[in-house]
Amino acid sequence: MRAAHIHAAVLTVSDKGYAGERVDESGAALEELLRGMGVASVTRSLVPDERELIAAELMRLADQTPANLVLTTGGTGMTSRDVTPEATRAVLDREAPGFAEAMRMLSLRQTPHAVLSRAVSGLRGRTLIVNMPGSPRACREQFAMISASLPHAIEKLLDQGGDCARPDDAP
Ligand code: MTE
Repeated sequence: MRAAHIHAAVLTVSDKGYAGERVDESGAALEELLRGMGVASVTRSLVPDERELIAAELMRLADQTPANLVLTTGGTGMTSRDVTPEATRAVLDREAPGFAEAMRMLSLRQTPHAVLSRAVSGLRGRTLIVNMPGSPRACREQFAMISASLPHAIEKLLDQGGDCARPDDAP
């Protein structure tokens, strides 16, 4: 998998993580998975479940850092504090719903609760932002569902890369 052009950022959205009451296992899991696929860089940050703070951090990552891929973890469910999708939508300038759609659909094989996910995905400038759930296990499962498409997605949003060869095509 060619992933050396990917500069990734993992944004954990968690009140408990921000308060130091919970170890950020889902952020760590996503960082490990990204490093395992050979991305050029991974940064981590953490904000509480506050719409304005999430949006501000997404804008900082997309506009002021080299990140061209941001994976958020947490805040995509239905509790009153879950506002990651709204914060994300507020900063997107183009939709790219396929990632969230695929993860929601394929996650139904793991759990019927997959329908609770309100995750969104889309583009801000030349950065792809994808919402993922808060549990490390769910992050691992969902990362496996989209990881094969990430290198090509980032190539395309950088206006690089010509053909749309399938991941399993011979080189
Ligand atoms: N998707 C996968 N693959 N595996 C899971 O365990 N959990 C679901 C759903 N999607 C889950 C999943 C549950 S229980 C919820 S509430 C939503 O993701 C949202 O998770 P979040 O509130 O932690 O962001």
